[in-house]
Amino acid sequence: MENYIHDIPTKVYFGKGMISHLDESLRQFGKNVLLAYGGGSIKKTGLYDEVMKILNEGGFTVTELSGIEPNPRIESVERGVQLCKENNIDVVLAVGGGSVIDCAKAVCSGFYYEGDDLWYMVKYVKGTKKSLPLVDILTLSATGSDFDNGGVISNLKTNEKLGSGFTFPAVSILDPTYTFSVSKYQTAAGSADIMSHIMEGYFSKTEDSELADGIAETILKSVIKNLPIALREPDNYSARANLMHAESVACSDIPEYGKLSTSWPCHGLEHELSAFYDITHGTGLAILTPRWMRFILKKDPSCQWRFVRFAKNVWGLEGEDEHELALRGIDALEQFFRDCEIPMSLSEVNIGTEHFEEMAEHVCQVRALDKAFVPLTKEDVIAIFTDCL
Ligand code: NZQ
Ligand code: ZN
Repeated sequence: MENYIHDIPTKVYFGKGMISHLDESLRQFGKNVLLAYGGGSIKKTGLYDEVMKILNEGGFTVTELSGIEPNPRIESVERGVQLCKENNIDVVLAVGGGSVIDCAKAVCSGFYYEGDDLWYMVKYVKGTKKSLPLVDILTLSATGSDFDNGGVISNLKTNEKLGSGFTFPAVSILDPTYTFSVSKYQTAAGSADIMSHIMEGYFSKTEDSELADGIAETILKSVIKNLPIALREPDNYSARANLMHAESVACSDIPEYGKLSTSWPCHGLEHELSAFYDITHGTGLAILTPRWMRFILKKDPSCQWRFVRFAKNVWGLEGEDEHELALRGIDALEQFFRDCEIPMSLSEVNIGTEHFEEMAEHVCQVRALDKAFVPLTKEDVIAIFTDCL
């Protein structure tokens, strides 16, 4: 078992009605609030009105940063930083999915960044940065941005989508009822993202971090059980609550404590797809993961034990032939994503071979794929992309 540090300063209010803690959560930081949100879902659901009522009754001054894109762009970060500077913002309130929270995190850090090129900050300044305080209300179960310090920002001019450590939210309000309105497509993609956050760390060489592996398997089984329910019954509180609970812990590092790091290869490959084609993050991961699994199992059969454990403990499969069992576990994952109606090939999301070389080259530069669970070369990455066609 490896060493680890537990250091998550975020206060989480989880459950129905927890927005009652919004006023006190903001007030501790001041009265000037930047309200950050996306393309309008919070207006359709009524959450915007609910938030504004609390802010108006509390005497807060509100400046709005609206229209944050899925796969948030550096231009939105720049706009947000400018608004914070012009309006003496004390605290940022992000209301939305991972994209809104990620953009808000970069805005919080960008406020104190002394250079004038915020893309340089995203790309080169490593580690948690000095930041404005961030409070968020999550509306989509997927990324775990509400419980980690990371944010992923896209630059469409350079075809780059890069993660960086910005800041942990000071407070996250997680009310599963706010996810009732999430579409089937985003619910499934978000859940694939949750599962990927687990699988990226689960497939590690460390064999004896028992609590971490147990948490990982429990989260996977919970998503496998609750996603189909949420797709059938979008306002099933228990299903939505379990997905929200899972998303928060899944990307927090807790399911990887005591384990050797793995470089999260599928995330590296997916960020290339999104950077070039602006696709939904969870969809890209669902397409890539089973193909990556088959590829590494073939490349390094010594990792088979991990796949056997995955097949038995996550999918409840049994069998004498371990290689066959390993493959059946991967097939079960792929079939699960298909049953949840996630597009399962690159051609279905209009991606061809045209940028494979460039994307593979880039991911090998920005991610330590040579230190992955099974190390990957540029040629391996191209082969995995090709298997996804
Ligand atoms: O923009 P609005 O109108 O709000 O609509 C959004 C968006 O179109 C909609 N939506 C959100 N909540 C809704 C809703 N629609 C109806 N009802 C609601 N309650 O869903 C669409 C997708 O939203 P988005 O925020 O983009 O999704 P997600 O939460 O999956 O975030 C994806 C982004 O997070 C990054 C991804 O790469 C991607 O850029 N990630 C962030 C991570 C982190 N911070 O730790 C880790 C992840 O691995 C990931 O890379
Ligand atoms: Zn992810």
